[in-house]
Amino acid sequence: MPTTTDLIEKKQRGEEISSSEIARFVSGYTMGKIPDYQAAALLMAIYFQGLSRAETAALTEAIVASGETVSYPLDFAPILDKHSTGGVGDKTSILLVPMLAAAGYRVPKMSGRGLGHTGGTIDKLESIPGFRSDLSHEELLAQLDQIGCAIISQSPELVPAEKKLYALRDATATVASQGLIAASILSKKIAAGASHVIIDVKHGSGGFFKRKSEARHFAKFIVNLAREFPPSVMAAITSMEQPLGRTVGNALEIQEVIDILKTGDAEAEVARLSMLLGGALLHFAGETSNRGEGEAKLANTLRDGSAQEKFRQMVSAQGGRLTEFSRLRETIEDRTQRVEVKAPVNDHVRRLDALSVGRLCHRLGAGRNRMTDTIDPWVGVILKRKLGDAVMQGEVIAAAYAPMNSP
Ligand code: URA
Repeated sequence: MPTTTDLIEKKQRGEEISSSEIARFVSGYTMGKIPDYQAAALLMAIYFQGLSRAETAALTEAIVASGETVSYPLDFAPILDKHSTGGVGDKTSILLVPMLAAAGYRVPKMSGRGLGHTGGTIDKLESIPGFRSDLSHEELLAQLDQIGCAIISQSPELVPAEKKLYALRDATATVASQGLIAASILSKKIAAGASHVIIDVKHGSGGFFKRKSEARHFAKFIVNLAREFPPSVMAAITSMEQPLGRTVGNALEIQEVIDILKTGDAEAEVARLSMLLGGALLHFAGETSNRGEGEAKLANTLRDGSAQEKFRQMVSAQGGRLTEFSRLRETIEDRTQRVEVKAPVNDHVRRLDALSVGRLCHRLGAGRNRMTDTIDPWVGVILKRKLGDAVMQGEVIAAAYAPMNSP
């Protein structure tokens, strides 16, 4: 039987790994029989040599097989889900999930933590004191029955292999690999039992696909790959040249979602993207006769306050204490130092580079350098002006919240 070192060497040479070798590696790593350093070496070889469609399918299957797969009563259908390939300031899921549930759909969304310079939905939600993302299979079923939605993380029950591999990829700079991203996303969607999924494939400086052509290629790849699995998958391609919305940083992004839900502002950038993706998903699932109809349905959930109520129910069911979160938000300046960026001249914002903002927040403590690092939920950036906006000399165009002890 080939050893893990044989497998690493095989991939280094650019040869295809068989599905049984992939299955053995995934189960060995999940059970702790293969050490992090060997798994990291294999990931790096994959990063440089890539994975074929067959290898990606085998990796997806092996990750799903590392845990349980949730199935739902027939009257829950359709089971909707959305996933992004990752970006800066991308809090769309946190808004769209309660919007879809408020419109009457079941959404068991499995998300991840921050990866590289991009933020993770789970890290954002965990900035709410008490919020729990590691729901068991039974807890997820009960919450979907009672509330209609949940945002959960990989757990010892659901895709445990993905949990370990995800954290290792984050710490070893091996995220931006088409096959690894596809298997990571698809395995989560399969295990959580989605029937219809929209994948938001981001391109631009803050995404993992820098060019639109790479994003298109990935979109085709994952939609094609998904034909081998139960969920029906569609993809949308959207820009990540500048950060999405007005905030970057875990707690600040939660506050932005809370503000949109409170004001019912369907024109906010994050709300518009949520409606665009949600409208496309509802049409794809055969729930509406066109995308606009779904968008209008979702906009109503913002305007009539039902999405806000759904968000409150979901957070509270998962242990989150929103009143405590609000108190912490009000006192953010007791725990951080605010640094303002002012416009040097009267002009327009000509460039707002998502990668630079993402890296800045990561360095301030919003992301991890090692698997064991803890993050600071309150660091981040508020963007008062965005690309193309007019600015007056001396006006504050952005504010960064840095840790108290940073120079
Ligand atoms: N989102 C995921 O879930 N996995 C990736 O690899 C990238 C984005």
